[in-house]
Amino acid sequence: MTHRPAAAVVLAAGLGTRMKSTRPKVMHPLAGRPMIGHLLATLSEVGFDKIVIVVGPDTPSVAAAVAPHPTVIQTDRLGTGHAVLAAREHLKGVDGVGFDGDVLILFGDTPLVRAETLRNMLAARQSDDRPAVVGSGFRPADPGAYGRLIVDKKGNLQAIVEAREATPEQLAVTLCNSGFMAVDGRRLLGLLDRVKNDNAKGEYYLTDIVRLARADGCACAVVEGEEAEFLGINSRAELAEAEARVQAGLRARAMAAGATLTDSATVYFSHDTRLGKDVTVGPYVVFGPGVTIGDEVEIFSFCHIEEATVARGARIGPFARLRPGAEIGIEAHIGNFVEIKNARIEAGAKANHLSYIGDARVGAGANIGAGTITCNYDGFFKSHTDIGANAFIGSNTALVAPVKVADGAIVGAGSVITRDVSADALALTRGPHEEKPGWAARFRTAKSAEKAKTKKKG
Ligand code: UD1
Ligand code: MG
Repeated sequence: MTHRPAAAVVLAAGLGTRMKSTRPKVMHPLAGRPMIGHLLATLSEVGFDKIVIVVGPDTPSVAAAVAPHPTVIQTDRLGTGHAVLAAREHLKGVDGVGFDGDVLILFGDTPLVRAETLRNMLAARQSDDRPAVVGSGFRPADPGAYGRLIVDKKGNLQAIVEAREATPEQLAVTLCNSGFMAVDGRRLLGLLDRVKNDNAKGEYYLTDIVRLARADGCACAVVEGEEAEFLGINSRAELAEAEARVQAGLRARAMAAGATLTDSATVYFSHDTRLGKDVTVGPYVVFGPGVTIGDEVEIFSFCHIEEATVARGARIGPFARLRPGAEIGIEAHIGNFVEIKNARIEAGAKANHLSYIGDARVGAGANIGAGTITCNYDGFFKSHTDIGANAFIGSNTALVAPVKVADGAIVGAGSVITRDVSADALALTRGPHEEKPGWAARFRTAKSAEKAKTKKKG
């Protein structure tokens, strides 16, 4: 099949007032990435030659998030039709008339659309009567304020009517406009230039191009999708609803790929979480972005993991926190209330209880006792701690970085290590043990007598 050129225009200049946020709406995250990122990922799955994002003024964060795709600015928000025209320079084609292929128009705040639906829309442009415009519809439980798709008996699209302009008969139509369209790129700009704003909202409606194309004698068509994929996000409540849908999909994907989620509804994934085979994830585990988990890893309940890698057969948690740059080696154990940041824990090493290990390397087979802390920060600079293979760090040790404990060394419990320890040595910085026989009993007798005296007086 020869490749038919396709461009996508994503409208994202809306004010997003109901989000009550200083952040552009499309930058609110779903499963660890901005909602516009979800849409771009779906677009790249379908494959487009050109993607342009229409943004409002002063939204550098959106431009940065969508790069290398270009953004164009719609200064005045005069409607969906007007918004598409902001991308005019990108849609002119080589001869200035129009892009030689299909132009798909999407909304940045509707990120859950499936690739399959977009493909169906592009495919519908190739149907026998070569529709100039392919709208997309769905049948929601409550059609409410959605535009209605008016189709003839053969299912051809005749017009799209906004709810506030619809007649009672049109309002009774249950097929609603998602807003997404696939349009003949040669005709798009010409159609949009003829759209007027003499309507209830005083806006340039993209939807008007259906009526205009029909007046030109062109066919128009509709592709139906599911209500869930056309969920538009206008408020924090809708954002939460979308998050729940995305999480449900990610959980299903993880289980289908061979992970056990003991209580799947309580596990939160990032869009990019990678789990190996036979991974078990206990209840209440949160994966931030950038996590890769190897085969046969067991993650016990209540762990928080982000920008970290865990190699085969390691055991994490319960209640462990793996922060950015944590690299957990094969069959290593990271236990309860252990925090690892920017540190490599090599194969078989263990840090099982109550520790902070940051900016460090822990060699293979080393044992980190309960309460060990790498003191990596002096208030100005971060320094590195290096612990050799098979070293043993006694409980409640403070390792004041930069410092090195060489292979096989033992550090006695309660030490504050400020100097390097050589291989196979014992380092101990504890005060000497002192014992005074009978002292405690004498102390108690004297103090009890003293207390009895004050009571009598009172
Ligand atoms: C639009 C459709 C309606 C459909 C509904 C689905 C039109 C005229 N109406 O209405 O038929 O049922 O979506 O949700 O198209 N935007 C801009 N610049 C603008 C205006 C809008 O970038 O000047 C963007 C918004 O950021 C948003 C999208 O376009 O992503 C849709 O705009 P919105 O105002 O929500 O359109 P609706 O009135 O909901
Ligand atoms: Mg809307």
